[in-house]
Amino acid sequence: MTKILMVCLGNICRSPLAEGILRDKLSTEEFTIDSAGTGDYHIGDLPDQRSINVAKKYGVDITNQRGRQFSVTDFDVFDLIYVMDNSNFKNVVKLARNENDIAKVKLILNEVYPNQNYDVPDPYHDSDQGFENVFKMLDEATDVIQQKVTKI
Ligand code: 4NP
Repeated sequence: MTKILMVCLGNICRSPLAEGILRDKLSTEEFTIDSAGTGDYHIGDLPDQRSINVAKKYGVDITNQRGRQFSVTDFDVFDLIYVMDNSNFKNVVKLARNENDIAKVKLILNEVYPNQNYDVPDPYHDSDQGFENVFKMLDEATDVIQQKVTKI
């Protein structure tokens, strides 16, 4: 079983989309996909309605998800930790206990644009178009992730 965690700030906009999109591309028998936020603002909350809507538009149901906060024990559970932006990267790496933990943390758009360190922009204060753009970015990134992890 390969375990992959998607991380953003609130765990209501970007990482629930990343989780839902990737889950639909992989076998549930071989992969566990989860998401978390570095912040504690939305623990127990449903994803943002705009994320739910754009996911539904493309056939992905994310309404089973609830917000939770990233915890240091996630380094023990997950093989790969994909963060949405550079701020998430800093916040997660701050909690790392050793080089092994740090090596698990990757910026998700580096899968599409290697070494460019691009952010998936936080769409929280954006329009519906922002959520549409985020969906497309994550759909591309998860295509690459799917190809990589199914080759391991
Ligand atoms: P996310 O977006 O990190 O993509 O889930 C955010 C959602 C909520 C907040 C920040 C970012 N917030 O500050 O409540």
